[in-house]
Amino acid sequence: MKKKIIIAIDGYSSTGKSTIAKQIAKALNYIYVDTGAMYRAVTLYAMQHNFVIENEIQADQLIQNLDNISLSFKFNKSLGFAEVFLNGINVEREIRTIEVSKLVSKVAAISEVRKKLVKEQQEMGTFKGIVMDGRDIGTVVFPEAELKLFMTASAEKRAKRRHLELLKRGDIVSYEEVLENVQERDHIDSSRKDSPLMKADNAVELDNSDMGMDEQFERIMSLIRSKIKTIQSTS
Ligand code: DC
Repeated sequence: MKKKIIIAIDGYSSTGKSTIAKQIAKALNYIYVDTGAMYRAVTLYAMQHNFVIENEIQADQLIQNLDNISLSFKFNKSLGFAEVFLNGINVEREIRTIEVSKLVSKVAAISEVRKKLVKEQQEMGTFKGIVMDGRDIGTVVFPEAELKLFMTASAEKRAKRRHLELLKRGDIVSYEEVLENVQERDHIDSSRKDSPLMKADNAVELDNSDMGMDEQFERIMSLIRSKIKTIQSTS
């Protein structure tokens, strides 16, 4: 039987991590976990419970309520990926709004939130065969992951992609607002004290500013194949 591995994909926001992660998981018949969706769902909870005042998160109140937040994923056959549920309710669409995007980095900087979510993420990887994307997967969640990728692209390219995605959903938002959000999140995610976004020493860096989806997919699949081959031949 083919050895199952853990594939950790980190990188800046809107680098297409989740799109490529979903494709890889499908090709390998692995589980895909979008950890950004978990931080987004906690942010939505904070918004729903009025723990946000003038764009600032009331961290103490949110921390006191962390035990009341239950997150789960359910595979949606027609979409081909697992949607996120907050306390039993599908919030996949609600967590992608610009309002959530504007607050999520602040929520993700709270250590107690990270501790809860990292623990849940590590449990999901117990049996390997998983593709997980986020900001700290190769550095904190699975430092022993067999394959680590670090995705980058220019802020302008990323904002353009995200803007298009939001327009397709029917959201009214300007390119400038999306670019500003991408840059602000880059800054908060990379400069926070707890688990800042950074490339793990042994991660393979992929700049996809000018790379097509097919080329990217092929490059990653060939990295995976050679990794699995090496592991099988040494075990
Ligand atoms: O991947 P995304 O844009 O949906 O992530 C939303 C935010 O969550 C991002 O700005 C940083 C945070 N995040 C994190 O801190 N750690 C992770 N493993 C995943 C996301």
